[in-house]
Amino acid sequence: MVPETGIDPACATLAAHGIELPRALHGLVQRVLIPKAALQRRICELARLLAERYPREAEVVVTPVLTGAFMFAADLGRALAAESTLDVHYALTKTSTYGSAMGANGPGERRVIVDLQPSDVAGRAMLLVDDILDHGFTLATLRDRLAEWGVRSVQVCVLLDKQLANPEPQILAQRAKAAPDLVGFEIPDVWVAGYGLDAAGALRHLPCIVSVDKHA
Ligand code: IMP
Ligand code: MG
Repeated sequence: MVPETGIDPACATLAAHGIELPRALHGLVQRVLIPKAALQRRICELARLLAERYPREAEVVVTPVLTGAFMFAADLGRALAAESTLDVHYALTKTSTYGSAMGANGPGERRVIVDLQPSDVAGRAMLLVDDILDHGFTLATLRDRLAEWGVRSVQVCVLLDKQLANPEPQILAQRAKAAPDLVGFEIPDVWVAGYGLDAAGALRHLPCIVSVDKHA
């Protein structure tokens, strides 16, 4: 499966997409990278591809990695139910904030708080849904945990795959372990927000993906 590399060539402003932000957030958003319509189109394609990957299952447990994946997982679960006869369940999990990953000691200090119970997922077909693959720590950890808990199968679907400019070998190894089965879009190595992803807590509500000036 080839992920979409198509970043909106127009890279329009939010205003051109008819979206107004409060004055305090002006200057934060640079450009719209992936407009709402492109996101929704891709989600339908992902749901069709996923439906083919659960041929013998009656049900699937969608596990969004909160908070960033909440919007994507809601839309993807609905699209999957529309594209299949699967009984779609949800079991949410949360990870620690991104801030600690940026600490002086690097990604090693991060914690993934998995608030799922093994009994929620053991023996079941899982769909792990995350907003973005960056260093791969979150998904690598969750994959390990689900395997320990004896899930029946797991597919990992991420909306965005950040193409890191200069990844260290340790990061590359972690990303390889995270190994998403399906990717929505490849994006450049910039901070993005919208459609569930945040910039210092803001912008999660946007229906599109935008690039952010973190220094604004
Ligand atoms: P990883 O564990 O390093 O792959 O980090 C993935 C998590 O970091 C994602 O689930 C996001 O919550 C967060 N993250 C990474 N890059 C961005 C970004 O550009 N915008 C918003 N959140 C991000
Ligand atoms: Mg996240």
